[in-house]
Amino acid sequence: MSEALYAEHPDVYDALYADKEYDREVAFVCEQFDERGNGGDRALVVGCGTGEHSRRLRDRGFDVTGVDRYEAMVERARTKSDADFRVGQLPDLPVEGAFDLVFVPFTVVNHLPPDDFAPTVRALVDALADGGLLVFDVMDERPEEPTAMQLYTSDRPEGTYARLVQRRPTDGRQYRWDSLIFTPDGEFFVDVHELTDFDREVVTGALEVLGLDVATFGWYGDVDESETDMTVFVGSDDRS
Ligand SMILES: C[S@@+](CC[C@H](N)C(=O)[O-])C[C@H]1O[C@@H](n2cnc3c(N)ncnc32)[C@H](O)[C@@H]1O
Repeated sequence: MSEALYAEHPDVYDALYADKEYDREVAFVCEQFDERGNGGDRALVVGCGTGEHSRRLRDRGFDVTGVDRYEAMVERARTKSDADFRVGQLPDLPVEGAFDLVFVPFTVVNHLPPDDFAPTVRALVDALADGGLLVFDVMDERPEEPTAMQLYTSDRPEGTYARLVQRRPTDGRQYRWDSLIFTPDGEFFVDVHELTDFDREVVTGALEVLGLDVATFGWYGDVDESETDMTVFVGSDDRS
């Protein structure tokens, strides 16, 4: 059982998330960067997936490096922009130098096992230039017991993609997203993600200990933080 959606079917990932609000997410990050960043142009996108945020940041003039764990995602990202895409896995970052903006979008942090959280936060903060901005999100979705099946669909010109999902708790703060994914050509495959919930206060504390000034928001600014299980952390470098 594997993360087949990322490892083998990045085209299906894009079809399932065709309506994802990449524009708004990038606009939010850029507003934050304009307000609290250092004005530089080196951006690092970690867990860049198929490169949609990277492409938009490139269009806004950033010099972008994108990193993702899966070769297939990186290969697809390379077809969308001339950002520098690399394969690599948190907490180890295959990058050199310092970045003015470090962006870790859409539950990448939830994909970490609990023990990788502290070294990951350190690696992300270490990658920041003086006065740089770190933005990442976490979702708080661990159920107490296996959920009912949920069906998500995405209608595309070539037909309908469908994803049947069950979330189930495993150990501690961990849980699984088990999916059966159907494509318009009559194929289907199994996809499994092992995810971890991270407490908002613990995340904020971990960033502050490393010298960041932290603000939290509802999902990319479109909802009040108290009304959502999805939090965006914006940490500006306050180390000097
Ligand atoms: C939900 S997808 C988000 C992709 C992209 N950021 C987006 O918004 O469409 C999570 C991504 O994180 C990547 N990922 C998961 N664990 C990772 C790790 N430890 N290091 C780097 N990338 C990771 C996956 O390969 C996948 O592309």
